[in-house]
Amino acid sequence: MRINKYIAQAGVASRRKADELIAAGNVKVNGAVLREPGYNVEDGDVVEVNGRRIEAEEKKVYILLNKPLGYVTTVSDDKERLTVMDLVQDVDARIFPVGRLDYNTSGMLIMTNDGDFAYKLTHPKHELTKTYRARVAGVLSTEKVWKLRNGVDIGGFVTSKARVDVVKGLPKSTIVDITIHEGKNRQVRKMFKAVGNNVQELERIAIGDIRLGRLAEGHYRKLTREEVEYLKNC
Ligand code: URA
Repeated sequence: MRINKYIAQAGVASRRKADELIAAGNVKVNGAVLREPGYNVEDGDVVEVNGRRIEAEEKKVYILLNKPLGYVTTVSDDKERLTVMDLVQDVDARIFPVGRLDYNTSGMLIMTNDGDFAYKLTHPKHELTKTYRARVAGVLSTEKVWKLRNGVDIGGFVTSKARVDVVKGLPKSTIVDITIHEGKNRQVRKMFKAVGNNVQELERIAIGDIRLGRLAEGHYRKLTREEVEYLKNC
């Protein structure tokens, strides 16, 4: 973040006044008087104004990204794969993904710089539902739908009740919407595998009552104030 914005966000002075403070030599970064008005403050920098250390309170940002396939849901990847951070480079805040989607799953991902919000949203006790649209191999019989709705064993864990609606039968596969309450690793894939229908495509289409809608893949939008309030109160 540019130094004048940083000073403004710390509540010390307006951006213009911050520029004056810098020009007057009243701003130090890491112990040295700052001579560069366009300096970008980096993580770990110690900024002082008139001899007093300041810290900027970053404005809270909440966005909804439509994650494409082939991106990892992390801030950095040791295998040098594309990450969701590559899709939000123009967001002027240190946001991170809330929860995760598999590399091969597309759809709705919330990102924020609000740690408390992220913690709450991912805490198991909040049980915010997640809805996925899956294309699974073969025919999904009524008996299998019933099993998925009532709980299946995905390896030492029996899933709780889920909503399952068959959307469409295709010649060799079935499109199905599933809403789950937990967020176990690869849960949806494991649930369908448990009834013998492997997932071929998976997209998250809703978190709680918030739907992905028509947001194009790789694009993001800001969550509305109402959506943020809704998620905070879940
Ligand atoms: N369930 C899965 O199997 N994968 C995801 O990415 C999300 C839910």
